[in-house]
Amino acid sequence: MAEEVKSPARYTITAALPYTNGPIHIGHLAGVYVPADIYARYQRLIGKDVAFVCGSDEHGVAISMKAKKEGVTPKDVIDKYHAIIKKSFVDFGITFDNYSRTSAQIHHKTASEFFIKLYEQGDFIEETTAQLYDEEAEQFLADRFVVGTCPKCGHEEAYGDQCENCGSTLNATDLINPKSTITGAVPTLKETKHWFLPLDRYEDFLKKWILEGHKKDWKPNVYGQCKSWIDGGLEPRAVTRDLDWGIPVPVKDGEGKVLYVWFDAPIGYISSTKEWAKREGKDWEPYWKDKDTKLLHFIGKDNIVFHCIIFPSILKAHGDYILPENVPANEFLNLEGNKLSTSKNWAVWLHEYLEEFPDMQDVLRYTLTANAPETKDNDFTWKDFQARNNNELVAIFGNFINRVVVLTHKYYNGQVPAAGNLLQVDKETLAELTKYPGIISSSIERYRFREASQELMNLARLGNKYLADEEPWKVIKENEERVKTIMFVALQIATGLAVLSEPFLPFTSSKLKQILRLGEEGSDGANSQQIAATLNNESRKDLLKWSDVSNEETLLSPGHQIGEAELLYRKIEDKEIQAQLDKLEATKKANTSTALSTGTTNKELMPQKDTITFDEFTKLDIRVGTIIEAEKMAKAKKLLVLKVDTGLDTRTIVSGIAESFIPEEIIGKKVTVLVNLAPRALRGVESEGMILMTENSEGKLVFVNPDEDGVGNGLTIN
Ligand code: MF3
Ligand code: ZN
Repeated sequence: MAEEVKSPARYTITAALPYTNGPIHIGHLAGVYVPADIYARYQRLIGKDVAFVCGSDEHGVAISMKAKKEGVTPKDVIDKYHAIIKKSFVDFGITFDNYSRTSAQIHHKTASEFFIKLYEQGDFIEETTAQLYDEEAEQFLADRFVVGTCPKCGHEEAYGDQCENCGSTLNATDLINPKSTITGAVPTLKETKHWFLPLDRYEDFLKKWILEGHKKDWKPNVYGQCKSWIDGGLEPRAVTRDLDWGIPVPVKDGEGKVLYVWFDAPIGYISSTKEWAKREGKDWEPYWKDKDTKLLHFIGKDNIVFHCIIFPSILKAHGDYILPENVPANEFLNLEGNKLSTSKNWAVWLHEYLEEFPDMQDVLRYTLTANAPETKDNDFTWKDFQARNNNELVAIFGNFINRVVVLTHKYYNGQVPAAGNLLQVDKETLAELTKYPGIISSSIERYRFREASQELMNLARLGNKYLADEEPWKVIKENEERVKTIMFVALQIATGLAVLSEPFLPFTSSKLKQILRLGEEGSDGANSQQIAATLNNESRKDLLKWSDVSNEETLLSPGHQIGEAELLYRKIEDKEIQAQLDKLEATKKANTSTALSTGTTNKELMPQKDTITFDEFTKLDIRVGTIIEAEKMAKAKKLLVLKVDTGLDTRTIVSGIAESFIPEEIIGKKVTVLVNLAPRALRGVESEGMILMTENSEGKLVFVNPDEDGVGNGLTIN
């Protein structure tokens, strides 16, 4: 194909190095590792030369803090979580060619050399400035060792390097009312020398490269963040820190200082590539320096600035390196309506998932892909997980395969029959099948993995519908010849699915290839763990390639013997889902009670208002009501028009809560209503009362309802 010739032969695919301060959860998988793995597997399948690299991010304050909290050394922390994380990746079939760690010697060497080269070229500014210092801990404070108010958005919990509320990258000294997270002390200022990367010098380069060069092909969320950064004006950023955990600053006056974690970690991609190349007897350099190599960074949205602005400036300064072709960052995944949080244990941990749903990696991979936060934050719900499994994987994909395999055994002792005369419907169905490699490729190449996964399911739908329409189980009674053709066609689709599902559903694909005896090595009895271990084994020989599904007339030849039927998926029962929901409910309760005992929330309470008399109080008529209708007010972003049953009557209340609630989901909710507030018109709709609201510990609006979680004493009712 002409297209194949044009596209570069070599891909360097990186996935964000996870911090080893905890295990990984579904958010990591959905945001970064599953899409990266789909992409890497796909490129390998179409014959590209791929280096898919990752590793543990083991420096930085996140690790030191975790160690302090647990009373162990940073080394203890990284060893523990590196092992857990690495195992989770293997278990979920993430086929890194290499998984390294930034504590590895090769990385220390690579990062130090990078720093020295830039230092010698005069690319840094060396400056002694006053930095925040904790007298009690006798330590300088940067990054996560200090919190304070964000100068850009006013968020009170911004860190010394970044505000998670508005996404701004900060310098610790920018924070208003800074406070040490080690001792709680208010820091003083103390002079110290550091090296700064003058990002302002890269403005023209970045403008040209990103703003002019990648307006069309980068995702709007990524491009938008870069643009607002560049338009906002870039400033020098310190690339060293006064810490004792990290890579020592390898130049004069560097004693007692380390490289900033965001300087060394991205270089970890290079170190990981070197480690891999050495092991494989390859040359690492083309993967980072050859213009024909496509470099891609898979990351979450909080990493955009580091991968699009800072790291490329470092690569550019160095001079020998290629720049990323694309940075397909995802937004965030939430869990049952709330932000995933390691510290609040609001997560589905991968190692726990596998204990509860053994051998069901593909179900999670599929759910997270079908519902990936590609263009906006998205919610993972257990109900959706169950529905995706039961209604799609079981009812469509699994059902189709099972029928095909069982009937082939029943009618032909497991031998693929030869097709007779092809009818129009058979020809059309086979022609449809040949389109799928192209359709799915096109989605993957544009980083639309949700869409790609749905197209794969559409192929299974095609097969399912074909069988349901042709009804071989009925036709067999009067026309045995016709059934041969039907089963031949169905077996071709099953084979197409075995090939095309590999990037998305690798365990299923493996199993299916075994069932169809597609020549994949591996024993019949191999369980998922064993399959996972061999997934990136290059000696594996698949007989069929991606493009064969488009080009070959017959994917599975008449006479070919297939293996026994085996169920690919099982139904997930309501009680299994309830158990997961109960577990989350228990986490919520535990969090609420700690929040309450520590003073409700991490937000400051409003001071008490002026005293009122009892008479004044009794003037307020507050009732319990139920929302019976809810809809968005046209052209008003914040307003919902509600119908509320107050016990007295049913009335209309306009409430400014549209950004916190989905109308359908609040119907039936019990609420507290101030019913004798003078009516007033909002955008022409008369509102007859007010619903009392507060904020929960996540800062989300919730109804005042004693049963509501996260509502604590002392919160303002408004
Ligand atoms: N550890 C960082 C995080 O979890 C990601 C580092 S990506 C790298 O947010 F590029 F620095 F490696
Ligand atoms: Zn902010």
